[in-house]
Amino acid sequence: MAKTKKRYICQACGSVSHRWQGQCADCAEWNTLVEDAPATVFSQKHDLSAGGRPVQFVALDAPGVPLVRRSTGLAEFDRALGGGLVPGSAILMGGDPGIGKSTLLLQAAARIARSGGQTVYISGEEASGQVRLRAERLGLADAPVQLAAATSVRDILTTLGAMDAPALLVIDSIQTMYSDTIEGAPGTVSQVRGCAFELIRYAKESGAALVLVGHVTKDGSIAGPRVLEHMVDVVMSFEGERSHQYRILRSLKNRFGPVDEIGVFAMEGQGLAEVGNPSMLFLSGRETPLAGSAVFPALEGTRPVLVEIQALIVRLQSGATPRRAVVGWDNGRMAMLLAVLEARCGLSFSSAEVYLNVAGGYRLSDPAADLAVAAALVSALADRPLDLRSVWFGEVSLAGEIRPVAHGALRLREAGKLGFETGYGPEDTTGHSPGLNYRGLKQLANLVDRVMSNP
Ligand code: TYD
Ligand code: MG
Repeated sequence: MAKTKKRYICQACGSVSHRWQGQCADCAEWNTLVEDAPATVFSQKHDLSAGGRPVQFVALDAPGVPLVRRSTGLAEFDRALGGGLVPGSAILMGGDPGIGKSTLLLQAAARIARSGGQTVYISGEEASGQVRLRAERLGLADAPVQLAAATSVRDILTTLGAMDAPALLVIDSIQTMYSDTIEGAPGTVSQVRGCAFELIRYAKESGAALVLVGHVTKDGSIAGPRVLEHMVDVVMSFEGERSHQYRILRSLKNRFGPVDEIGVFAMEGQGLAEVGNPSMLFLSGRETPLAGSAVFPALEGTRPVLVEIQALIVRLQSGATPRRAVVGWDNGRMAMLLAVLEARCGLSFSSAEVYLNVAGGYRLSDPAADLAVAAALVSALADRPLDLRSVWFGEVSLAGEIRPVAHGALRLREAGKLGFETGYGPEDTTGHSPGLNYRGLKQLANLVDRVMSNP
């Protein structure tokens, strides 16, 4: 005897609830709960301890199939993937609308096709004509990519089943796909999950590398169920400010490689160009020393990137609540730094508006940015420019100490190579770069002294 029980799935975060509610208890979104296909609950306990086939165990060092990767033809894409596409793997690629996901994947598909691999590009969002126009604009129209506009997973899998498995299968996007075995409109949790499941199964069985394009919600997470992230092998996000030229491809999860490598691209008239050496990219035109600007030697995976951090402080006359705005860094982290600067160094930001910007549309996630942000803030507050040829890195503790961070030597080496003359950072950084003066700072107060001693 089976009895059915209703359940409701949040379309924003995928959490399950047994009662309909106006607001999701997990992600606090409104009106996102939708009734799911009834789950079957057996009242009688089935005995699962008999009747199955024995499962074979293997040793961890048993010889397996070696991992062969296929290049996407774009070195930056390969780098973010950890060395290239793994056959049979599933990749989920998220990113804001218009950031360039379709462009990147069309370019990769064309490169693979030109090098003799079979590639299939299924567009559920644009008509084939539109994709062809883009290919023409990118100068890729002659690449033998198999292009189709389709949204029915049954049609797609039937077609693929009748041909040799492609090296790369692009589904743009998973939210537009539709399976006739599942109820609900395309884009709902059950549709997205069901379609992804079928496509991933095809990839695993055929050995095709599958890329699913995923929409992102306004807070940046991939729309639809989080389960999608569990189902795939690699989760990538394509980031950047649409108004800026630069785009960063990052892997957030990778079952076949490291997750801290990035690929850097520039969006140009001819599509995405690879930026092989991005270390100077995020320094805006810096010629005259300006108060409130500090350079931070960031590290993305194994690759150093020099980033300019800009702070602006506006004193308020009235007693209005001052604004704090941060672009490219963590809001909470800036509030913490301001508090530490007030408590440990006696500086006052309380009656001033504070704006912080990371140049070039870059998003910093490296904890070593604290010192550079503090330097920019102090410099802006005191209206004293920092030395143009200096870089700053280190983590700041609540006690105002400058803490050591990973790869100090690598950061300094890159800064030295690019003509910077002085590095400021935690006291016990070893492996200083020749040609670069290194000054270890113990406390935030030492930073304030340094800034104040500048003319
Ligand atoms: P697209 O790949 O359609 O973005 P997504 O699939 O992530 O939504 O990229 C669209 C944007 O890229 C569009 O705003 C114009 C820009 N673009 C260029 O600047 N140059 C180009 O050669 C192409 C093809 C697009
Ligand atoms: Mg697109």
